[in-house]
Amino acid sequence: MTIAFATSTAFRTFDEDLPLIQAAADQRGIDAAILSWDDPDVDWSAFDAVVVRSCWDYIERRGAFLDWARSVPRLHNSREVIEWNTDKVYLRQLEAAGIPIIETRWDIAAGDDIGSPGEWVVKPTVSAGSKDTARWRAAEDVYAHSAQLTAAGRTSMTQPYISSVDDEGETAMLFIGGVFSHAIRKGQLLEPGEGVVQDRAGRETIDPRTPSSAQRDIAQAALAAVDTVLGHPADLLYARVDLVTDADGSPIVIELELTEPSLFLPHSDGGALRLVDAVLARS
Ligand SMILES: Nc1ncnc2c1ncn2[C@@H]1O[C@H](COP(=O)(O)OP(=O)(O)O)[C@@H](O)[C@H]1O
Ligand SMILES: [Mg+2]
Repeated sequence: MTIAFATSTAFRTFDEDLPLIQAAADQRGIDAAILSWDDPDVDWSAFDAVVVRSCWDYIERRGAFLDWARSVPRLHNSREVIEWNTDKVYLRQLEAAGIPIIETRWDIAAGDDIGSPGEWVVKPTVSAGSKDTARWRAAEDVYAHSAQLTAAGRTSMTQPYISSVDDEGETAMLFIGGVFSHAIRKGQLLEPGEGVVQDRAGRETIDPRTPSSAQRDIAQAALAAVDTVLGHPADLLYARVDLVTDADGSPIVIELELTEPSLFLPHSDGGALRLVDAVLARS
């Protein structure tokens, strides 16, 4: 049994999950290869399973990444899931399926109604690590940022800034093999007045968190909605449901990470072994 874990040359050393995954594979007596997704010398069909991990550079070349995903047999999560999940327009379908998401306006143009939340967030639909994302206090900055994204051929999202993020942070709930594994709190990332900052990586503060039953219910409902949207069970090897808290105290989805989420395994008890076991169960 050999499993490939796909990373990227640029981000491999930033991935804190991989050393734990490697150790868990060793413990189970499985060969684990950690390889860059765009390495042309790799024969991905030689593996019993290929697991997408820190392929975080796909943002700049999503087309090439999806071509790669289509070419790899025995890929987790499936290429269909990855294709759907790498563009946050999927949030519209979750919303239509009854999942509460942050109120979002798509591709706004100057003068469009953007409400008056006091602060807004503008971001592109294909992104990770809060790239090209900013928090604004002035409507003209919101319009300008959205225009800049759409002029570059991207889809923009405009949302109210969810103020509970400043103290409560966001809650990431990790599911492995379809079963809840652990959760973490991620501290606030966007500072007012800083505009578009490209590297907020050093800013992440992560702590373990016990989710509320309301959070667990929404996370489960969001995952069930994926099956509904796809029309069949997605059989997710891993999933991360990121939640924030709305002004009325209820959990809402900020994003559903089914492609290359940090699994925050250093903050879990046994998560890496559960991941390897879940791969084995699917191979
Ligand atoms: N509407 C929002 N309100 C408050 N904070 C937000 C909002 N949208 C994004 N953020 C902040 O920006 C970060 C990145 O946004 P997110 O939607 O998670 O995209 P990604 O993680 O794919 O870059 C979040 O972790 C959060 O700190
Ligand atoms: Mg995020």
